[in-house]
Amino acid sequence: MADDNTDTKSSNQMWGGRFASGPDAIMEEINASIGFDKKLFAQDIRGSIAHATMLAHQGIISADDKDKIVHGLNTILSEIESGNFEFSRQLEDIHMNVEARLATLIGPAAGRLHTARSRNDQVALDFRLWVKEELEKTEQMLTGLIAAFLDRAEEHAESVMPGFTHLQTAQPVTFGHHCMAYVEMFGRDRARVRHAIEHLDESPIGAAALAGTGYPIDRHMTAKALGFREPTRNSIDTVSDRDFAIEFLSIAAIAGMHLSRLAEEIVIWSTPQFGFVRLSDAFSTGSSIMPQKKNPDAAELVRAKTGRINGSLVALLTIMKGLPLAYSKDMQEDKEQVFDAAESLELAIAAMTGMMRDMTVNTARMKAAAGSGYSTATDLADWLVREAGLPFRDAHHVTGRAVALAESKGCDLAELPLSDLQAIHPDITDKVYGVLTVEASVASRKSFGGTAPSEVRRQIAFWRARN
Ligand code: ARG
Repeated sequence: MADDNTDTKSSNQMWGGRFASGPDAIMEEINASIGFDKKLFAQDIRGSIAHATMLAHQGIISADDKDKIVHGLNTILSEIESGNFEFSRQLEDIHMNVEARLATLIGPAAGRLHTARSRNDQVALDFRLWVKEELEKTEQMLTGLIAAFLDRAEEHAESVMPGFTHLQTAQPVTFGHHCMAYVEMFGRDRARVRHAIEHLDESPIGAAALAGTGYPIDRHMTAKALGFREPTRNSIDTVSDRDFAIEFLSIAAIAGMHLSRLAEEIVIWSTPQFGFVRLSDAFSTGSSIMPQKKNPDAAELVRAKTGRINGSLVALLTIMKGLPLAYSKDMQEDKEQVFDAAESLELAIAAMTGMMRDMTVNTARMKAAAGSGYSTATDLADWLVREAGLPFRDAHHVTGRAVALAESKGCDLAELPLSDLQAIHPDITDKVYGVLTVEASVASRKSFGGTAPSEVRRQIAFWRARN
């Protein structure tokens, strides 16, 4: 069907090589969205059933025509679901594909479905419904990811690891505490998702082309039937607004950024040099040439998908930024960006949930690393403040000298003999050794939100109650 004018028009010799015929075919190719908006078939049919039902209820079409329309639409739904529907590019988009098929199935009554409606409010409706469902799915997936982190955090509330700043060993923390940092991040992502659902929960149908309609429609009725809180308030805004899609992409970009930071940490942690975690076979691959390797490909791909999601966000912001109100065909380019980002985000969350649940945590390696790099130096300074009454700045200086001495001797702080420490400051006693271990360091940090196991358990309980 798409090529039926091949013989009557020849393609332009300079630039038409890939087109079946002349400008008509090019127009069809640039104009058609059916290749991607067929994904909206279920939302389109749902919207049309609600619209036709309302039209009949308001006496705008007859009950008989409404019955035919609804029956025909349900037939089309099962045709598409079972793969027995032929999509036509000449019919441009999902809306016209469905309507044309309806005409074939039920005859002239099909022509009454588009009363008091335009493709402008129709596409706004279909797309909103799709994004709403995707947000609901994202919410659930984030809940699953948070649950995976809570389990690991509980298991490792006491496992010490080095905490980093600048990727330099800073102070000992617990792996449970580190896991709970991600719970906070994904918890914020989920809150953004919930907020976005609230934002988009308004029904666009009935805005018509842009100005509303003279037919006595009931937009509250369709809003309710389609599960929206209420109808949108301004018909011009309704058909020109794609904030809901941009919000979805922003949320996806922020969540993607979080997932990518986690991916980066997993890549680092799983190197033989760190050896903090070992990925399961299910989430790693071998090298075709180096038999010893176990590569964190899934983590790397999560990191890369974030770039793709960011691209989609920037693309849609750029598509929308110069558009006068109300609808312009530019807006048709919204869908592929959102579909692609949604697929990437789902995959990234699923991969990270699996990776976190499956990975083996090497607590011995973490603990050994936690003690290196003079990670308890702050604890020595704090001890000097607390037990010897030094101002923190002086204590910091004294500790710096102790670290320099340990460094020159090639040993840990806790391995310096008391005589060495006392040469640096006479008030140091052997009690100081009690705070130089990583366990003591971690246990002491009981401030609200801190890394002490007791505090981490309190954080876990907080999130368990909310997950
Ligand atoms: N396929 C179009 C889109 O995705 C549907 C709306 C078309 N409206 C119009 N006035 N041409 O945006």
